[in-house]
Amino acid sequence: MMMSNLAPVPELYVSYESAQKLKLEAAELTSWDLTPRQICDLELLMNGGFNPLKGFLSEEDYTSVVENMRLANGALWPMPVTLDVSEDFASKIEVGQDIALRDQEGVILAIMSVTDNWEPNKSLEAEKVYGADDIAHPAVNYLHNQAGKIYIGGPITGIQQPVHYDFRGRRDTPNELRTFFRKVGWRRVVAFQTRNPLHRAHQELTFRAAKEAQANLLIHPVVGMTKPGDVDHFTRVRCYEAVLDKYPSSTTSMSLLNLAMRMGGPREAVWHGLIRANHGCTHFIVGRDHAGPGKNSAGEDFYGPYDAQELFRKCQDEIGVEMVDFKHMVYVQERAQYEPADEIEEGVTVLNISGTELRRRLSEGLEIPEWFSFPEVVTELRKTRPPRAQQGFTVFFTGFSGSGKSTIANALMVKLMEMGGRPVTLLDGDIVRKNLSSELGFSKEHRDLNIRRIGYVASEITKNGGIAICAPIAPYATTRRAVREDVEAFGAFVEVHVATSIEECEKRDRKGLYKLAREGKIKEFTGISDPYDVPENPELAVDTINIDVDNCAHQVILKLESMGLIAG
Ligand code: PPS
Repeated sequence: MMMSNLAPVPELYVSYESAQKLKLEAAELTSWDLTPRQICDLELLMNGGFNPLKGFLSEEDYTSVVENMRLANGALWPMPVTLDVSEDFASKIEVGQDIALRDQEGVILAIMSVTDNWEPNKSLEAEKVYGADDIAHPAVNYLHNQAGKIYIGGPITGIQQPVHYDFRGRRDTPNELRTFFRKVGWRRVVAFQTRNPLHRAHQELTFRAAKEAQANLLIHPVVGMTKPGDVDHFTRVRCYEAVLDKYPSSTTSMSLLNLAMRMGGPREAVWHGLIRANHGCTHFIVGRDHAGPGKNSAGEDFYGPYDAQELFRKCQDEIGVEMVDFKHMVYVQERAQYEPADEIEEGVTVLNISGTELRRRLSEGLEIPEWFSFPEVVTELRKTRPPRAQQGFTVFFTGFSGSGKSTIANALMVKLMEMGGRPVTLLDGDIVRKNLSSELGFSKEHRDLNIRRIGYVASEITKNGGIAICAPIAPYATTRRAVREDVEAFGAFVEVHVATSIEECEKRDRKGLYKLAREGKIKEFTGISDPYDVPENPELAVDTINIDVDNCAHQVILKLESMGLIAG
């Protein structure tokens, strides 16, 4: 059954007057500061994008969604939309209590009446929802390493929309889009979901889809949260705007969707369909590997390339939008046009540039042909992704105290400064503990905090085109991984294990700390009375036993050169 796109969807907002009153009352309530992902979820809950949900899932709905892709009342809903909080926060609130939900600046966006408070089985959620409990999946990694331990659920009373300062004219609530469609008389609308810049293949695909569905086209890119490492949405929207001119203006429109994607493949495709139904669309394009998370930790795809289409097809009637399915589009040189890969006869020349190949060409400043993309799009991408040798990056040394990290890091800094071109900042363990982390000790919690602070600063430096050299002990692999993720959102992360053995470090004992640690005068000393996770796959491991500092630093330089981070 195709839904009508004329009637409004229910929103969770109260009237302006009530909101003003509630805001004052809510200031007294216990409040939760929403994470960026939770803000995205809340926005779509409140504006009806997640209709029929009335709030963050209760335990009963959650269990049912995880197990059966349905709410407890039987309605199709494939994705757990949950409010994860810390154990500490959860212990302070009771069922029946109202809490204020605030954005990151402290603005109250909504009130939630807490009906449920439970500890989820995250591994089960990962298995059932994403198909594997494997942290190579971005949503599973989020679940285990970022989300709080406890979920709370309950209905939402919406006070105000999250504030956006960017592209305001391009953001629409479901009802604003419905009003627009009504105004321009669009009864059949095919939505195109994307988290990537649009190139010629996408334009061809969307053209064909609109033709096939005899519908108008809505380019509906996600600007909330996408896959780590994606092109940032500012760049993408500028790219979309450039491409939009290439469509006949009365047939195509663009609107930005503040969704936090989970990269959940088939389940995510169904979710996207429901969201588009709420936005008044009647058709939805599902291509190859829709919302794919990439490879699992065994190097294999999490889902088959057309699993999403299959599941969507099964659920289509309930979703209320019709799928326009597409195979992979490739360029046929002889005919100078894009065609679906599965419709092409043998013997013709098929050209294709993968996402990885595109990134390589951008990072090496190589040509990107006109058959692949539009010059305006390439220009935008080049501005954001200059060649690697001009991008920021982080070198992260890890190793025991006294292993030689600081000495090599200092030598590396000087060599990089001699080369010039980018600012270099050294975040040495001791310096950081003096300036950034002076209140911290050496418990696991404090060490993690220390390393996350270093990671944060390094990621900012990397984002702004500088070189950050970090040299803490950083004994925990999970924390190093988290820092890697923070940095890799903006540039390369080069982990260097200074692999000097604990015996050698103790023998050298340059600061006399090992002696004190052995005597029990320093507690929790790494390698003596505290653990160190040896890096499994560092970009480089250096041994300092028979090699001098200059040579170690030179090995790092060679590594950076081989990665294209400094010009050869
Ligand atoms: S961590 O674990 O990464 O937060 O440690 P880090 O900040 O790099 O530690 C910096 C220096 O602190 C001295 N120190 C200790 N190290 C390990 N364990 C304990 N308990 C401890 N107490 C003090 C030590 O000299 C570290 O020095 P370097 O040589 O710079 O690694």
